[in-house]
Amino acid sequence: MNPQEPAFEIEVSLTVNGEAVTRRVSARQHLADFLRDELSLTGTHIGCEHGVCGACAVRVDGRVVRGCLMLAVQASGSVVETIEGLSDSGALADLQAEFLQRNAAQCGFCTSGMLLTAHEFLKGGRCGSREEIRDVLSGNLCRCTGYQSIVDAVEATMMKRT
Ligand code: FES
Ligand code: FES
Repeated sequence: MNPQEPAFEIEVSLTVNGEAVTRRVSARQHLADFLRDELSLTGTHIGCEHGVCGACAVRVDGRVVRGCLMLAVQASGSVVETIEGLSDSGALADLQAEFLQRNAAQCGFCTSGMLLTAHEFLKGGRCGSREEIRDVLSGNLCRCTGYQSIVDAVEATMMKRT
């Protein structure tokens, strides 16, 4: 597409962190950019933009997805939850406390994606081995922590919940 041409726009309506939102967006804008640029929800980070790093994780209709691999128009009609909404609701409070205590968030770039992925894993009081925790977090890249402290934090939360 010629960058000089105006972007084709479509109206989207969705619920984000409990609030109804309607916007006109470029047909090619992905969900992570929409959340950051249109709604100022900058807790959703953008790293690789091709589905590898996990920094852009958000929940859509109850499932964690990669915000860089979903177009905003595809989320129209959906219920979207971001790190901001899940933090405000207290849903992640125990997990966040363990991350803080164990220094599992350093620069914090990966942290929102890590928390959403870990939260999904722990849903419903699920219990798993350290290997399973490592496996489920393997799609979330961290340049800082060496992962040990993150796995410790998820494991500690799991033990307290069960
Ligand atoms: Fe989406 Fe990396 S920015 S997976
Ligand atoms: Fe820096 Fe994970 S804490 S990338």
